[in-house]
Amino acid sequence: MNLQVKHPLLAAPASIGGLELKNKIIMAPMGSNFAGEDGHTTEQLESYYEERAKGGVGLIILETSAITWPAGASMPYMIGFSKDEFVSDLNSLTQRVHQHGAKIAAQLNHSGKIAQEDTIAGRPIPVPSIPKSEPSDMFGLLTQDEIMNFIKAGGPDGKGPRYHELTIDEIKIEINHFAQAAKRAKLANFDAVEIHAGHGYLISSFLSPAVNKRTDQYGGSTENRARFLIEVIQAIKQEVSADFPVLVRLDANEYRIDGGITPKDFLVTARLAEKAGADALDVSSYGNTSKGIAFTEAPLVHEPGGFLKYARMAKETVSIPIIAVGRIELDVAENGLKNKDFDFVAMGRKLLADPGLPNKISSGQEHLIRPCIYCYVCVSQIFINKPMMCAVNSQLGNEFRNEKIIFSTARQKNILVVGAGPSGMEAARLLAMQGHHVEIWEKDKDIGGTVRVATLAYEPNGQLIKYSAKLPQRTQSNNKEKYGGNDRKD
Ligand SMILES: Cc1cc2nc3c(=O)[nH]c(=O)nc-3n(C[C@H](O)[C@H](O)[C@H](O)COP(=O)(O)O)c2cc1C
Ligand code: SF4
Repeated sequence: MNLQVKHPLLAAPASIGGLELKNKIIMAPMGSNFAGEDGHTTEQLESYYEERAKGGVGLIILETSAITWPAGASMPYMIGFSKDEFVSDLNSLTQRVHQHGAKIAAQLNHSGKIAQEDTIAGRPIPVPSIPKSEPSDMFGLLTQDEIMNFIKAGGPDGKGPRYHELTIDEIKIEINHFAQAAKRAKLANFDAVEIHAGHGYLISSFLSPAVNKRTDQYGGSTENRARFLIEVIQAIKQEVSADFPVLVRLDANEYRIDGGITPKDFLVTARLAEKAGADALDVSSYGNTSKGIAFTEAPLVHEPGGFLKYARMAKETVSIPIIAVGRIELDVAENGLKNKDFDFVAMGRKLLADPGLPNKISSGQEHLIRPCIYCYVCVSQIFINKPMMCAVNSQLGNEFRNEKIIFSTARQKNILVVGAGPSGMEAARLLAMQGHHVEIWEKDKDIGGTVRVATLAYEPNGQLIKYSAKLPQRTQSNNKEKYGGNDRKD
């Protein structure tokens, strides 16, 4: 077994605002739709996060959660931080994460103009100024079923969202909601909070000159547009305690949004956030979601390391830790840490595809990491209001059933799987993990089946075959692939 740690900096400990992390890998916040309809956590949600903690990640940033739940929610199954009654379930979640040595931060959010659940319920949506409506090119890309899931988002009268421009007094009330939610996070034993100030939600609507047309002290100059965020940071520090770490997720750029946030705005906001007491910046970006293509530019960037340039700019501008995110490959992460381009690496999709990635890095077993193929299935599920799924990880969302799917068998069998296509290989993998002796027969000279064909159209699919081909203890005899059950420890 190869025990050489290829990415030692990534695997080494570091801290954010006094919070010690066992490595520099952070799980990026990702909405899952695994919470209950009532804003509480569920067994499915807690098991999903526990599995990522078990996999060795240093810090988990919990998915977007609603500070005023059910108001301000963008998903039907979203975690609430709006009432004290949520604290005990949230405490159970943090305990389950902590027992594996990981830390956890709550991502506090008000979805603002994207608060789909407010539209459905007919509630007015708070915004800095009334946004312009823009026709979407997404509908042409959806199936009938998917469109049906969107239709309810027209609201009770089918007329779409009703916006309400916040008065100054109401802005103060929203700021207090963030502070109270942070207080509950601390009570539930979260180690930190992340303020979601990106991705078109309420705080970023204030930051974005494309949306914020106010003429009072919360609009106009970059400093004025950042005022809401700055007052949220200050209110949290005051309400909870100055040493409770507050991370801030910011957009460095708004793609395909006329007059949107620019890197120059971002750097001004970054400096102000640091001055107000932020303990780290998580550098993301946003794209115009009414244009399908923009979504692959931001926030779910398709270009490898597509936001690294912004992380570097932030690193040169402020002295608090910088968290880089956006399809960051391991070698790129290690080099960036070495060059001090950033201090931490947040990974989203990679940790959906393989929650054990951090442990595999620190134990020199990187060849066993199941690759994300950047196919966008996970996030498409969220778009159509369904629970998250992963195209390459059938366990995702089924972790709470894990005991039943993966167990060590007391009676080893010799099992023949016919066909080394994706399903055959996955079946063989799971059976071998249970301890059986598994053999796969494939009539073609190569393994991979339809994935091989799909690789011609989209290269990342080929990573899956490479991963399967690298699995340990497989011997090849003519066209047969043999898996030795006892040695499989994926
Ligand atoms: C399914 C899914 C849900 C997401 N939900 C959130 C969210 O709740 N809050 C957030 O700030 N970003 C969200 N994101 C963006 C990720 O945090 C991350 O910035 C993005 O996926 C890029 O990182 P990656 O290339 O490592 O996946 C989501 C991404 C995915 C894939
Ligand atoms: S493989 Fe596809 S579904 Fe799975 S995490 Fe990656 S992009 Fe999402």
